Amino acid sequence: MAVEPVLVLREAERFKLDASDDSLFYAEPRFVQHLDGAFRARLTALYRERIPPCAVVLDLMSSWVSHLPEEVTYQAVIGHGLNGEELAANPRLDRHWVQNLNSDQQLPLDDASVDAVLIVAGWQYLQRPEAIAAELLRVVRPRGQVIVAFSNRMFFQKAPQVWTDGGDRDHLAYVAKVLLAQGWGQPELIAEPTRLAGPMGWLGGQGNPFLAVVAPRPPFHL
Ligand SMILES: C[S@@+](CC[C@H](N)C(=O)[O-])C[C@H]1O[C@@H](n2cnc3c(N)ncnc32)[C@H](O)[C@@H]1O
Repeated sequence: MAVEPVLVLREAERFKLDASDDSLFYAEPRFVQHLDGAFRARLTALYRERIPPCAVVLDLMSSWVSHLPEEVTYQAVIGHGLNGEELAANPRLDRHWVQNLNSDQQLPLDDASVDAVLIVAGWQYLQRPEAIAAELLRVVRPRGQVIVAFSNRMFFQKAPQVWTDGGDRDHLAYVAKVLLAQGWGQPELIAEPTRLAGPMGWLGGQGNPFLAVVAPRPPFHL
């Protein structure tokens, strides 16, 4: 059963420039990488370190790629997003569904049925993040976790004001605040530069900065 979220944002902070239905924006598949190779390598390393192979993984706000380490087989990987063609082409997903989270925040998943939730370059488009964080707390098992990763880029017109007005550190603090307010455990904040691969990296070329919030689901919560 969905729980009432603890609100963190003011209504004005949910405003975005393009208020049309998000499903329209994602109607055409985009078979592109949204983040560079340096960012993706750091993300995959984090997943390798934090997610055990026996886990049921939920890749929320996914696309045709999940960035999970290729050599690890998980118990199940469930995908969610806004474009069915992208999700159907994602080789890591055992199953998936399409749902606009700005219209409907209730997830079609059982209580305590997931071990790790991943959100990559997605949180910045949530207009009701409190309700999503509360739902994730419901579907994640005690001692499970949520990993929210992002960089310093976005589809500006689709991001709510709370995101467009802030910088990297504001974004980390904001995601952590929303999670804590719903009962998630103390979040770990990661902010790291990345280095491009190959000659550009040897010359000091930087990749997309890596930012992540990792929060544990407490064993019990009120
Ligand atoms: C920049 S892409 C990132 C996709 C993927 N996580 C990746 O790492 O490449 C943003 C994703 O957020 C999801 N998204 C954006 N707005 C959404 C909404 N209102 N409801 C559900 N998903 C949404 C879409 O699935 C879209 O593919």
